Amino acid sequence: MSDAVYSVLVIDRDVGVAADFERAVLGLPVAVLGAGDRAEGIRFYSEFLPQMVLMDSEFDDGEVPLHDLFGEPSALEVVLMTDRWTETAALAAVARGASDLLAKPLDPSKVRQLVSGLIAQAETRRHTQELDNELLEVYQFQGMVSRSPRMLEVFSRVRRVAPFFQTLLLTGPTGTGKELIARALHNLSPRSHEKFVVGNCSALTETLMESQLFGHVKGAFTGAIHDQAGLFEYADHGTLFLDEIGELSLAAQAKLLRILQSQELQRVGSPATRTIDVHVIAATNRDVRELASKGKFREDLFYRLSMIEIQLPPLADRKEDLPLLQRHFLQYFSTKYGKELNGISRRAQILLTRHSWPGNVRELENVIGNACMMAQGKVVCDMDLPEAIRLQTASPHRDTGFMTFEEVRSRHLEYVLKLVDGNKARAAEVLGVSRATIYGMLARRIRQVVQRDNPST
Ligand SMILES: Nc1ncnc2c1ncn2[C@@H]1O[C@H](COP(=O)(O)OP(=O)(O)OP(=O)(O)O)[C@@H](O)[C@H]1O
Ligand SMILES: [Mg+2]
Repeated sequence: MSDAVYSVLVIDRDVGVAADFERAVLGLPVAVLGAGDRAEGIRFYSEFLPQMVLMDSEFDDGEVPLHDLFGEPSALEVVLMTDRWTETAALAAVARGASDLLAKPLDPSKVRQLVSGLIAQAETRRHTQELDNELLEVYQFQGMVSRSPRMLEVFSRVRRVAPFFQTLLLTGPTGTGKELIARALHNLSPRSHEKFVVGNCSALTETLMESQLFGHVKGAFTGAIHDQAGLFEYADHGTLFLDEIGELSLAAQAKLLRILQSQELQRVGSPATRTIDVHVIAATNRDVRELASKGKFREDLFYRLSMIEIQLPPLADRKEDLPLLQRHFLQYFSTKYGKELNGISRRAQILLTRHSWPGNVRELENVIGNACMMAQGKVVCDMDLPEAIRLQTASPHRDTGFMTFEEVRSRHLEYVLKLVDGNKARAAEVLGVSRATIYGMLARRIRQVVQRDNPST
């Protein structure tokens, strides 16, 4: 198998079939391995991880999904063969995830054509993957990756303000990377060799929060048994990242404003002032402008902080980042878990693109992390994704927001299939149509989804 680039496992009781296949692909860069039954096929599969499996349909019980038998068809092509070929049988095979159903005895020219096509596709995939890896390197910024114009603009602003800012406001929904941007600002500032300290303003009680930030003196409150410095003093000469600034109490806001204006700090319970030199990056996922207009946030502090404001866009507004981020997290987690994952199947990518990502990059990171943990082969496939992403409801029509009849039909079919555990005969009965209609709809659905979400294929 050494020089071959494309390996095929042929599973058939008749060893002659593997030999016929081998003759048909003579001259193509293909290595062929034969197995006599399903059990042997599965064993060989896990040992040699071929790119294509050609299996007699007698070994497909129609129950266990082909995915589960061999992994995912977009990484692995499963082709079935039968000596009773019909169009309905071919549609059923496709609906079960097979790439094709070939009639036996094998037609050498058809086999050759099929395999050449699959080799070309595999080449394209490999090439795309290489390009993705190159892009990943190009679009790195301080541990972040992005290629969306809005994020590239954010990176550019970070580069420009990092050498000069004293206070700065970072806004954006949860999980969009505010903390990473804050670290980047610090790393690119003249203070990079000083401390970067993180303070969270949503500490439990007001007293605790103030003491955490500004420190306290002995006896300032019950439990204050000795003097204690706060984060501001700890971060002296460095940068303090104040997360969830919208949660800061009004009293603490007054103290913060004073520090920003006069660089003077008072520990809780003490009238004494200390001079302090801290650059402050405040972050929030709330609309501080609105809080300010409602009197819940000091307007003077808001203006002071927002003289330089950097807004991070939600992931849903920069879906062009998804492939890059997916690859970034895939690399990270496959190293972390000691796996050799090298891609995400096309079906899985389609599902990931459809999701709305309310938890933004953090949610994506968690999803890919879990999927990498679940993945059994070299590729993360749709079954490795959490249910919330696999079982998404219909995507409405782009322009009108309505589903088309076709969409409603196929969604309803999916729903019924789920209720009857995937039993197509039963689904046909429930829906009052023939089984062939069901297979036809499923095949159409697969083609539509692939075309819609992947127009280039
Ligand atoms: N562009 C990016 N590239 C790579 N990883 C990213 C990117 N943006 C965010 N992350 C990762 O996503 C996760 C969330 O990022 P971060 O903690 O900075 O978000 P946040 O905006 O501070 O969220 P919250 O408002 O919930 O505190 C982190 O693990 C971070 O490493
Ligand atoms: Mg954060």
